[in-house]
Amino acid sequence: MSIAQKLYDRAKKVMPGGVCSSTRYINALGRPFYIARGAGSKVYDYDGREYIDMNCSHGAALLGHGHPAVTEALVKAAELGCICSAETEHQIELAEKLCRMIPCMEKVRFCTSGSEATMHMIRACRGFTGRDKILRLEGHFHGYHEMIYIGGQPPMDKLRENRSRPYIESAGIPEILRDLIVTAPFNDLDAIKEVIDSNRNQIATLILEPVNYNSGGIKPDPGYLEALRKITADNGIILFFDEIQSSFKKSVGGAQQDFGVVPDVCTIGKSLGGGVPLSAFGGKSEIMDMYKPFGTVQHSGTFNAHLTQILPGLAFLGEIEKPYFFAHLATLENRLHKGLDRITRDLGVPVMFPHHGSRFNLVMGLGEEPRRYSDLEKHDQSHAFEFYRRSAELGVYYHDYGKGSPGHSGYSIQHTEADIDKILEFAEKVLKEIY
Ligand SMILES: Cc1ncc(COP(=O)(O)O)c(C=O)c1O
Repeated sequence: MSIAQKLYDRAKKVMPGGVCSSTRYINALGRPFYIARGAGSKVYDYDGREYIDMNCSHGAALLGHGHPAVTEALVKAAELGCICSAETEHQIELAEKLCRMIPCMEKVRFCTSGSEATMHMIRACRGFTGRDKILRLEGHFHGYHEMIYIGGQPPMDKLRENRSRPYIESAGIPEILRDLIVTAPFNDLDAIKEVIDSNRNQIATLILEPVNYNSGGIKPDPGYLEALRKITADNGIILFFDEIQSSFKKSVGGAQQDFGVVPDVCTIGKSLGGGVPLSAFGGKSEIMDMYKPFGTVQHSGTFNAHLTQILPGLAFLGEIEKPYFFAHLATLENRLHKGLDRITRDLGVPVMFPHHGSRFNLVMGLGEEPRRYSDLEKHDQSHAFEFYRRSAELGVYYHDYGKGSPGHSGYSIQHTEADIDKILEFAEKVLKEIY
C-alpha cells in the first residue's frame, strides 16, 4: 500500500472525508494529494517523488514555495514576539503600499481568508446603502459563507430555476437567505438591467470576479465592465470586484488595472501573504469609513492583521515591485499558451486553456471559448479528470476541484521556461493518449 493511501486511511478516521478542506479530496485520485514539502516550482510527495506544481496553492503560492523573502519575514515576526491583537507600524506600511498600488483602494482593512474578506466587505456595502440584496453573477465564486454561498455555481440542471430561486449551495444555509440574493449571467447587460429594474432601490452591491477563474477562466466582453461601472453608479449600487484570485496575477493593480475599470470596493487575497494566509478588503473612503470605531459597521478580530501575516505581505509586495516580476510571468504565460494553442490545433482536439495572467483553466469538449457559466454545460469533466490523473503520473500536479465546472491552474515566479517546456511535452502526450 502506498504511503499516501496509508495516510488517507488514518485521516478518514479522525477528519470528515479525511481532509481539512472539502475540495482537497481529489476525485481523479480517490484521495487527497499529500505533499510532504515544497521548494520553488516543485512539490514532493511522501515517497519523495517530484512534481511540477501547477496548482500553486489555488493561486496563493505566486512566489512559489519557500521563497527566501517570506521565510525571512516569518523569522522576523517570531523575533518581534509574534505580536498579535495590536497595531504596529507594519500594518500602516502595508496599507499605504496597497492604497498606492490598487486603483480603487483609498482605505483598507486586513483579515485572513478570502471568504472573510467578502463577508466583511458585503456588510459595509449593506451598511452604506441601507439595502439588503446582493446581485451576483452565475458561475462566480466569492467564498463559502452564508451571505454568498447561494446561487453562484448551481448544478447545470438547476440553472434555469436559479434565476428566480437562487440555489442554496450547502445544506445548513437558511432558506430565508435566498431572498437576499439576485442573480444574472456574466457578459449579459440586458439581464443585469432587468434584475436591477425589478429590484429597484433594494440592491446594495453587484459583486463579481472581473475574470471568472472559478468557472472556466471567462473574461469580460469588451465594454462589459465599463457598462457595469455606469449602470451601478446610475442606480446607487456599489460595484464590488472580488479580486481574491485576480489580484497580482498579471499586474500590480489587479484586473481593475488590466481592464481600466475602477470599482467602488474590492477584495484581494490568495497570493498577498506570499503563501501565508492574508486577505484585504478596501475601496472608497466613504464606504470604508462605515467601519467602527467611528462608523456603525463592525469588523474586528483577535487575529486580524497578525504580524506573521503582515510581514510576509510586505515581503510579497517587495517582490512584485521588482521590474523582473511581471515580465517573467508574462514570458511564462506567452510560452505556455503559444505551446498549448499549437498542441490543440495540431491534434485537432476540443480543448482550450482560457487564461489571464498567470492562471488558466482547462475546458474540454467545447467548440469555442465560453462566455458564461451556462456554456460550460458541455464541459467534459471525465476527460478533465483523466488529464489530471495521467499528468500526475508523469509528475505534474494539477488540482481537480471535483465540481462540474473546470478547475483553475497556474504557476509561480519560481517556475522556469524549462518547467513550462516540460508541461507542454506532458500535455501533448496526455492529450494524444486520451483523444
Ligand atoms: C474569487 C474568490 N473569492 C473568494 C474566495 C474565497 O477565498 P478563501 O478560500 O481564501 O476563503 C476565492 C477562493 O478560491 C475566490 O477565488
